[in-house]
Amino acid sequence: MPAWVVLSAVLLAASLALKIAADRPARARRRNRTVLRTARLVLRPARPGDLLALHAIFTDAEAMAYWSTPPHRDLATTQAWLESMLAADPAESCDFIVERDGRVIGKAGCWRLPEVGYILARDQWGQGLAREALEAVVAHVFAAHPLAALIADVDPRNARSLALLKGLGFVETSRAERTMQVGEAWVDSVYLKLARPA
Ligand SMILES: CC(C)(COP(=O)(O)OP(=O)(O)OC[C@H]1O[C@@H](n2cnc3c(N)ncnc32)[C@H](O)[C@@H]1OP(=O)(O)O)[C@@H](O)C(=O)NCCC(=O)NCCS
Repeated sequence: MPAWVVLSAVLLAASLALKIAADRPARARRRNRTVLRTARLVLRPARPGDLLALHAIFTDAEAMAYWSTPPHRDLATTQAWLESMLAADPAESCDFIVERDGRVIGKAGCWRLPEVGYILARDQWGQGLAREALEAVVAHVFAAHPLAALIADVDPRNARSLALLKGLGFVETSRAERTMQVGEAWVDSVYLKLARPA
């Protein structure tokens, strides 16, 4: 990674940490402090220092092929994304950074309840890790929030994501065309829902 990227990341993380420290009294009451542990993963709240690891994931064109935005073009875009995760109100959000063996490998959760969103670094795909992370997230969200159901909005071409959700018990509720503009392209949606277990 070029030195300027590392330097910018350090500066951005430091400025983000300062901003958070300045706003500490209000945030201290509202911060998500939940940590979930699974056999292979730790799911924890985001930190300013997650910036570079997340940037590596959000600039991967293949991982971002069916995301709701194009791949991040610069570190500032990932910083804005991370800031929105850090600033989210735990009453409306239940989102986690996913760590494996101390490495940040993605995120899983609901940035805005009740919709799930998740992304893992490509070298981690196909090992059941997203399923493992989301099983923990789903159980926690239903335990911690009075929701009747979780929902998801998936690009119909995203076979991995659809298989993951259906494996978790999500059922398709409807489809719609040209629901979102991502860069220059309009994309379609499959809507899914997972009802609170009885
Ligand atoms: C979607 C994503 C999180 C899945 O991660 P993963 O760790 O590979 O998922 P898992 O290994 O837990 O596999 C989940 C299911 O998908 C299946 N699957 C794996 N690769 C697949 C493929 N190429 N096509 C179809 N299904 C596939 C698995 O068999 C598994 O199903 P099962 O539980 O019935 O065996 C990952 O591909 C990703 O980060 N994609 C980019 C971001 C993204 O698209 N997020 C979703 C936006 S809606």
